[in-house]
Amino acid sequence: MHSWATLAVALLANGVAAQNMLRFACSQLVVDRIDPLVNPGVRYTPHLHQIVGGNSFNLTMDISKHDLAAQSSCTSCTFNEDLSNYWTAVMFFKAKNGTYKRVPQVGNGGPQGQLVNNGGLDVYYIPSGKVTAFKQGFRMLAGNAANTDNSKVSKGNICHRCWTSTNDNTFVGGAPCSGSDTVDIPQDTKCKMIRQTIIFPACWDGKNLDSPDHKSHVTYSGSGASGGGSCPSTHPVKLPQVMYELMWNVSSFMDKSIWPDSGPALMYSMNLGGAAAHGDYVFGWKGDSLQKAMDKNCNLNKDCPAAGLTAQTPAKYNACNIKQQAPETVDGWLKALPMGEMAIKA
Ligand SMILES: *[C@@H]1O[C@H](CO)[C@@H](O)[C@H](O)[C@H]1NC(C)=O
Ligand SMILES: *[C@@H]1O[C@H](CO)[C@@H](O)[C@H](O)[C@H]1NC(C)=O
Ligand SMILES: *[C@@H]1O[C@H](CO)[C@@H](O)[C@H](O)[C@H]1NC(C)=O
Repeated sequence: MHSWATLAVALLANGVAAQNMLRFACSQLVVDRIDPLVNPGVRYTPHLHQIVGGNSFNLTMDISKHDLAAQSSCTSCTFNEDLSNYWTAVMFFKAKNGTYKRVPQVGNGGPQGQLVNNGGLDVYYIPSGKVTAFKQGFRMLAGNAANTDNSKVSKGNICHRCWTSTNDNTFVGGAPCSGSDTVDIPQDTKCKMIRQTIIFPACWDGKNLDSPDHKSHVTYSGSGASGGGSCPSTHPVKLPQVMYELMWNVSSFMDKSIWPDSGPALMYSMNLGGAAAHGDYVFGWKGDSLQKAMDKNCNLNKDCPAAGLTAQTPAKYNACNIKQQAPETVDGWLKALPMGEMAIKA
């Protein structure tokens, strides 16, 4: 089944006209233990992140001082005009012998055409009706990195899917965060890839670019990838709905004989499961290019002259990388998760 068709059917089933949306690839900018949103200025933050987007990503990114579009000279995401940063936790596999390995990330192509990623993730901006694009300095957080209670997570907004195909061009399942999708990370040797979806709130208070918990200036108005429902009076401004799509390629870890005797084989870098999945967003599109892209119905990852959007080749966005600000080994078999002390190779 065609993923866009499924989404369109889901949208039509809700009585909402299907709309174009941006859906594009972002390659890995860096995998690093810093977090300018939640732990500004801190090197070796409590857990490891993977970051995509503009190369001005840094330890601190103050709202008033850090202009992502002006300070970045390249982006690891498809559109030249998008210097935003997008980041999430990283998935690890734990082997029977107690060592850990970072799970590789791939793009999710599907029938809309392959999205070529070197690591990283895919980003969506889903409009529903007339939307107001984010303002310079805007940032937000979805999910809670310390949560261990599945019931506190809306499975309609942050979820996992066991992908039984090895091929990223074979679509598996229905609309994002529907059907048998789970809050937990599936722990099943049948999974070749695990798709993680993080859907952000689409309603804004219209005033604050951020809030102390990085969440209360925005709110959800529904679930799933429909672009959100109508906004409440506390958060009246309808935003484009941001969605991250991550494909964790677990296929090289699915031999049960190397799984731990007890406890999960797959976990996030907080040493927690899917209940702690989270996504961080710092807006950094040039000028009003995102507003124009929404108003002009720009679609998928294609050039959109009406809004001045230009897509880079995969070779170009793959080449945009930065060095770790908290240098440590994050790949290969590790003696422990990169938490606290610097990680050491096994
Ligand atoms: C990060 O910030 C420091 C201090 O302001 C600066 O020297 C450095 O060039 C910045 N790095 C990047 C990648 O922009
Ligand atoms: C631990 O287990 C993994 C998976 O079986 C293996 O590749 C790795 O070499 C082992 N490491 C050590 C130190 O035994
Ligand atoms: C996933 O990993 C396997 C094993 O390393 C590899 O053969 C396969 O090509 C990868 N899949 C994708 C879509 O990159």
